[in-house]
Amino acid sequence: MLLGVSPLPPQVRPLTDSLGRPLRDLRISVTDRCNLRCTYCMPGEVFGPDFAFLPKSELLSFEELERLSRLFVAGGVQKLRLTGGEPLLRRGLPDLIARLTTIPGVQDIAMTTNGLLLPRLAQDLKKAGLKRVTVSLDSLDPEIFGRMNGLGIHPDKVLDGIEAALTAGLGVKINTVVQRGVNDASLGELWAALKDRAVLRFIEFMDVGNHNGWNLDAVLPPGEVLARLGGDFTPAQAHYQGEVATRYTDAHGHEAGLITSVTAPFCGDCTRARLSAVGVLYTCLFATGGLDLRGPLRGGQSDTQLAELLARTWTQRRDRYSEERGSRTRSDGPKVEMSHIGG
Ligand code: GTP
Ligand code: 5AD
Ligand code: SF4
Ligand code: SF4
Repeated sequence: MLLGVSPLPPQVRPLTDSLGRPLRDLRISVTDRCNLRCTYCMPGEVFGPDFAFLPKSELLSFEELERLSRLFVAGGVQKLRLTGGEPLLRRGLPDLIARLTTIPGVQDIAMTTNGLLLPRLAQDLKKAGLKRVTVSLDSLDPEIFGRMNGLGIHPDKVLDGIEAALTAGLGVKINTVVQRGVNDASLGELWAALKDRAVLRFIEFMDVGNHNGWNLDAVLPPGEVLARLGGDFTPAQAHYQGEVATRYTDAHGHEAGLITSVTAPFCGDCTRARLSAVGVLYTCLFATGGLDLRGPLRGGQSDTQLAELLARTWTQRRDRYSEERGSRTRSDGPKVEMSHIGG
């Protein structure tokens, strides 16, 4: 056991930021690597064969992740989400999930994945205690999806992953990033094929990172997305306060979620902290900097000292980037890459 590790969080002390927002969710990136090169996230021109990904020694170990997660839970976190890059590239991931399920106070563990490795891993993930996966899939048109994922991967590979997750008994949501002129004309096909199998969510193309060529013209507002799906939609109640997706249902009860981070930002309810694979805590998806927790963790700081660092950071938090963005993207320094904090 590491010095200073205690089986339970030192003391539950729910944290609230300077705008009155509680700390509720922790999104943990377990690797910066991915087996796709989506143009809006890790464009191949930037993340090419010579790109220097993190060596294993830089990544937080599962023991370190469990220890930090306990401290976040002591600060109010109830929901954990594993992300990447592609989280399933991290060897032994079910072992991490099994560790996280032992933390009292964790009510939900989910994962965001591109689905390619689910046929191999879904059963083990379920056995380890994972409840649900959110699988990214932007189009069923092989040409469009192949172009968007940067490697020509066929959508059937992702569909196989979705089926494997369903067979294993995992809940499944599907995330689709929408870009005007790229995949918007194929949204209807995706909806028709998958609405019976999973909850579909349509995400506005965002100006995350520094390399994805974002511009406002490529963002499709909610009315246009629903029109592409066809059918009559009515707004549905949010499942919980601060839900990222605005829910709609069609006449048959199929659910579509719209994630309108550009046209209708939801910073007012943002309860999400993000931990990068090297242990930097970011308080916003669009942050230009964060708090290094790995240094103090590996430097022998106690749980109490680490909890104090976390508390200071969250209580001082004032991020509301999407509400402040307007039509222009941040220009006060390079933003953290999506592949470091996983969306
Ligand atoms: P559920 O627990 O299933 O409700 O998931 P979630 O709402 O946390 O959704 P998920 O993690 O799948 O997020 C979907 C997408 O929404 C992400 O991939 C991001 O693109 C976007 N997103 C999530 N959280 C934020 C946020 O805090 N700010 C912004 N701007 N976008 C976000
Ligand atoms: N805009 C919107 N969503 C994005 N994602 C990645 N990059 C972007 C972007 N620029 C989403 C992916 C995936 C998750 C990791 O984040 O669709 O679901
Ligand atoms: Fe990989 Fe997901 Fe980024 Fe696509 S969006 S490159 S699958 S991390
Ligand atoms: Fe939260 Fe930042 Fe997203 Fe606003 S832009 S919802 S503060 S992560």
